[in-house]
Amino acid sequence: MLYKTERFFVNTYHAIASKAFPRMPVPVPNVLNGDKSLDTLAKHLVDKGIKRPVIFTDSFFSTLPSFQLLIDTLEKKNIDYKIFNDIQPDPSYAIVEKGIAACHEHNYDCAIAIGGGSSIDGTKMINGCAKHNLDPRKITHGLMSMLQLRRKGAYFVAIPTTSGTGSEATTVTVVTDEKTNQKNALVSYGVVPDLAVFDSRLTMALPPHITASTGMDALTHAMESFMSTYSTKQTDEMNLKSIKRIFEFLPRAYKNGSEDHEARTEMALASFDAGKAFSKTLLGWAHGISHQLGAFYKVPHGMGCAISLPHVLQFALPKASDRLAIIADTLGLEGSTEKEKAQAVVDAVFELNRTLNIDSKFDMLKQEDVSAIAKNIIKEGNMAYPSHRNFDSYRHLESFLMERRDFAY
Ligand SMILES: [Fe+2]
Repeated sequence: MLYKTERFFVNTYHAIASKAFPRMPVPVPNVLNGDKSLDTLAKHLVDKGIKRPVIFTDSFFSTLPSFQLLIDTLEKKNIDYKIFNDIQPDPSYAIVEKGIAACHEHNYDCAIAIGGGSSIDGTKMINGCAKHNLDPRKITHGLMSMLQLRRKGAYFVAIPTTSGTGSEATTVTVVTDEKTNQKNALVSYGVVPDLAVFDSRLTMALPPHITASTGMDALTHAMESFMSTYSTKQTDEMNLKSIKRIFEFLPRAYKNGSEDHEARTEMALASFDAGKAFSKTLLGWAHGISHQLGAFYKVPHGMGCAISLPHVLQFALPKASDRLAIIADTLGLEGSTEKEKAQAVVDAVFELNRTLNIDSKFDMLKQEDVSAIAKNIIKEGNMAYPSHRNFDSYRHLESFLMERRDFAY
């Protein structure tokens, strides 16, 4: 199909979806928040009648003192837990199948995911499949997947140890096919956790570069959600609050994260709010670009978002300066016209990257890959990213990327 014809159908789809999508009743997790909220988790589980949880995490995190905080609280209440610490980055079907078996062996009544996005995302799939005896290899394709995992799994607790993915609030889970390396995303309301626990003790030890990239992932969620044509008054409030928090607290968490409990707590809440918002609005082109930088060059997701975000905002500016100007007002940025305020936001994101020692350029791009990368981004993004400004052709996106390969702010 000609690109322009395809765009016509996509625009029509988004015009309809923008009315329906934000009205969908996306479940929202309850929250335990505070300096020592993990200590109250066990009581919460006992009150819920939970006796046999399985804890999902990765092998490294399970050796850390922060993991022991969770174990201590469960043991104090004599809860009969089982640990599954085989979660890996971008969990595969094989890992998900092992996790399902662990649930059945333990006759589980609760799934507790503690870790980064992969631990929480993987547990979403494991929990839904274990509870309803579903084969994960058969349910991660197309609309049928949404129907098959629409029923909730066992009581699900998500304890994020980074502040960025927002996975504790979202409807998305991703599983990787180990044979083809293809990532299969599944969207279902049934996978949203019942409870999100934020305890700043878990994020205090995050190294600065991870704090920076995961924090910029959260900012990209909030900004792309705000810039989505699906945005609503409710999502705007969440996103603006999140954006303001991140501009204030991410530099603090980056510079002094091992001592600044307030910055860590605020970043966790900012990430959570952005996750709730983008479950209703979807995201934008910075995510499409980041996914391909990850697939082609192993650029970590948050870093790909950080690099792409200011360029995508600059690209959107001519069509969405009013939206950017609202962000400028929230951040107290100067400008005598709407356009000046919008430009101030773009400049502020470049500046934030500089503060976090992130180079805002696509210097990993190889000329020979650009055509395939642009095709993949548009294939994913036309339907997934409801944006105010889109690319006119594959060539348009290729030029956009190549022109920014050596860009130095
Ligand atoms: Fe993201």
